Amino acid sequence: MKFSFAKPGLPKSGAVVVTVLADRTLGPAGQDLDRTTGGMLTRAMAASRFTGKAEETLTVFAPAGTNASRVLLLGLGKGADATDRTFQAAGGVLVAALEKSGETDAAVVVEVPEGCALPPGQAAAELAFGARLRAYRFDRYRTKEKKEAKPSLKKVTVLTEAADAAKKAFARLDAVADAVCYTRDLVSEPANVLHPESLAERCKDLAELGVQVEVMDLKRLKKLGMGALIGVAQGSAFEPRVVVMRWDGNPDGEDRRPLAFIGKGVTFDTGGISIKPAAGMEDMKWDMGGAAAVIGLMRALAGRKAKANVVGVVGLVENMPSGTAQRPGDIVTSLSGQTIEVINTDAEGRLVLADCLWYTQETFKPRLMVDLATLTGAIIIALGNEHAGLFASDDALAEALTAAGRAVGEPVWRLPMGDAYDKEINSDAADMKNVGGGRGAGSITAAQFLKRFVNDVPWAHLDIAGVAWSKKDTATVPKGGTGFGVRLLDRFVADRYEG
Ligand code: BES
Ligand code: MN
Ligand code: ZN
Repeated sequence: MKFSFAKPGLPKSGAVVVTVLADRTLGPAGQDLDRTTGGMLTRAMAASRFTGKAEETLTVFAPAGTNASRVLLLGLGKGADATDRTFQAAGGVLVAALEKSGETDAAVVVEVPEGCALPPGQAAAELAFGARLRAYRFDRYRTKEKKEAKPSLKKVTVLTEAADAAKKAFARLDAVADAVCYTRDLVSEPANVLHPESLAERCKDLAELGVQVEVMDLKRLKKLGMGALIGVAQGSAFEPRVVVMRWDGNPDGEDRRPLAFIGKGVTFDTGGISIKPAAGMEDMKWDMGGAAAVIGLMRALAGRKAKANVVGVVGLVENMPSGTAQRPGDIVTSLSGQTIEVINTDAEGRLVLADCLWYTQETFKPRLMVDLATLTGAIIIALGNEHAGLFASDDALAEALTAAGRAVGEPVWRLPMGDAYDKEINSDAADMKNVGGGRGAGSITAAQFLKRFVNDVPWAHLDIAGVAWSKKDTATVPKGGTGFGVRLLDRFVADRYEG
């Protein structure tokens, strides 16, 4: 889908989209159109339940007095409540309404309602951003889809007085949308295509944007001593990889230490010898959602030339049962030197992250570390699919991440940590075991495990098991891989570390 920005002036054909505020209040462009159509918009609204609430739409087909094939009324709700997210959502629902309608072109008039503080160019750009995010599809493997079932909408022209400002604002958002879509692609790819070796190759794509990419192979990981990560990978026909991505966007800054983001990249999680049940196991192709978010974040930062020094580290493994697989009861020595008794081979993400966290901390001496992982089913029991779980050693970091998540519509909810939970992972045979003793608080004991591989650096862990994949469409996120974390962390970096 192509997006462009132009000064107002209604097109000669195609779909025309105008915004409506709560209580069926047409904006100036809508009022004009209502007059030229002899009041058709007003009558259509009166004949329906459409009132102009946010995310509501109403289609008026081939209205007399215009060349438009249809007019789409797009609700914005109360004008004074409108934010960037209102415009993003409006862009998303307009795509949902027109994408498969047969229309190829749409012109959208974006007017900023009274009482809304957004600059007009920004509002127009946010609408296009939301439209782009919703227009995402993963259809690479659909060879027999009928033409009628495919999206028809190709071109969206956003009409605004501030077309130049909109173009400028959109350039930055476009880079973020690229990154979100890139992450969604990675999450959606099946595990026969995307395995540790091929995912590491894909990371090299980022070099084009100026990211330094280093791929560490099994030989290197052995030499370093990443015994916890290697143990998970040893049952797979694919070798593990750890990929380090660096974006030095602020080389002359006062504090040159990087911000570090670490991702769990289990390209398929069968559970290993502690094998998972068959039902739903296909979901475990997206057990690399944390790594995909980190890769996407690096892409966003490089794409918009963020003024920050950032390092992304992803641990890529496949967790398979086989004659060479790790057994329950095995004891592995992590990079930190601490030994781990592997009680359950399905608690593998924490083993991968343990070595990646330690490596990142020791190698880069970062300002802070944030890891992302589809770590526990228990976080879905606790928070469902509406919030990611947040765990942190540092209150300020927790608050900053919470605020960023709220701002972009990727909400997170903090859960507690503490010594009483930490005790649960003490082992009689080794320094620790990889699962808690009891059945309770599985997401917290997982976080406590990670914390044992973090020293003094401020650290946070996002358990994204419930939010990396969605079974339903929302305004800006079609069902499937969500790209959760890319926008949140992009905002976190932009708001706190680029000033
Ligand atoms: N990848 C899973 C967690 C998961 C579950 C992600 C559902 C997405 C959806 C993780 O590796 C895992 O298997 N965790 C176990 C831990 C248990 C063995 C302590 C779990 O949650 O059951
Ligand atoms: Mn597992
Ligand atoms: Zn897993």
